[in-house]
Amino acid sequence: MPVNLRGRHFLKLLDFKPEEIAFLLTLSKKLKEDKMVGTRHRLLDGKNIALIFEKASTRTRCAFVAACIDEGAHPEYLGKGDIQLGKKETVKDTARVLGRYFDGIEFRGFSQKTVEELAEFAGVPVWNGLTDLYHPTQILADFLTVMENFGKLEGITLAYVGDGRNNMARSLLIGGMKMGMNIKIVAPESLFPDDELISKATEIASETGASFELTSSVDKGVNGAHVIYTDVWVSMGEESQWNERLNLLMPYQVNESMMKKTGRDDTIFLHCLPAFHNNDTELSKETGALEVTEEVFEGKASRVFDQAENRMHTIKAVMVSTLGA
Ligand code: CP
Ligand code: NVA
Repeated sequence: MPVNLRGRHFLKLLDFKPEEIAFLLTLSKKLKEDKMVGTRHRLLDGKNIALIFEKASTRTRCAFVAACIDEGAHPEYLGKGDIQLGKKETVKDTARVLGRYFDGIEFRGFSQKTVEELAEFAGVPVWNGLTDLYHPTQILADFLTVMENFGKLEGITLAYVGDGRNNMARSLLIGGMKMGMNIKIVAPESLFPDDELISKATEIASETGASFELTSSVDKGVNGAHVIYTDVWVSMGEESQWNERLNLLMPYQVNESMMKKTGRDDTIFLHCLPAFHNNDTELSKETGALEVTEEVFEGKASRVFDQAENRMHTIKAVMVSTLGA
């Protein structure tokens, strides 16, 4: 059966079959190649797209905007404070109104429940641009980058090092299990993913032949890894936990010595960005590098800007496949 995602929402990878994720990655690669050689299409011609952002964003917002414009759609940014969502108007009412104007809706915010509720009532495809629980469009970009480097996902060992219970760790674990990967969550035990997610991962792994491991040992966790992945130690909305997290996660900083511990010479480094890798930003001038050193971030193993570029091609694939003509 050919894959057909028309009319579908994109809320979390748990809702997708492995062949559907593979289809999105193949389409992303095709759209990327087309853009590279200047083959233009207008696959979203005349569509109106709402971009709701309760949290800040560089990549996700700009990837949606550029992808819309490439394909002939009109993106409308609705930032925090622009609309009444959940404050003066229920999510259900806002969804039903926006669904009358827009052909598709992206949501970035706090609660996964909000994006699920938008999807339930909007009557048009809704895409998750990050919630506290999941960041599924990011995973497509990550997996496309892995495939560009290793030619496959199945059998690839990805060690996610850092805050093992955040949206990125959770999404990589589920995505990895769907695609037959070996995912290692390397984190202090207090930051391991919750039992509910672990049981979902276990169930998917039994169907796909994937595997995962949770470990607080860096040596054990990164051994044999094709990919070392990290993310910020304090996610958006968790700023009050800053000091506690920094103390807890300092031993998990990705540095050259950790990269060597993989025992491979082709290991790549990935990060969804933004990253604390030097002291050149307002927030990092006090702390300096946190989750990754400047040496690794700027080093030969780093693929973080290919990964950031791939946000655009993969988000385009999500919109085109769920909404395209
Ligand atoms: N990786 C990512 O989602 O980046 P933004 O927060 O800039 O969108
Ligand atoms: N875990 C991070 C991801 C940012 C892309 C956050 O939620 O802030």
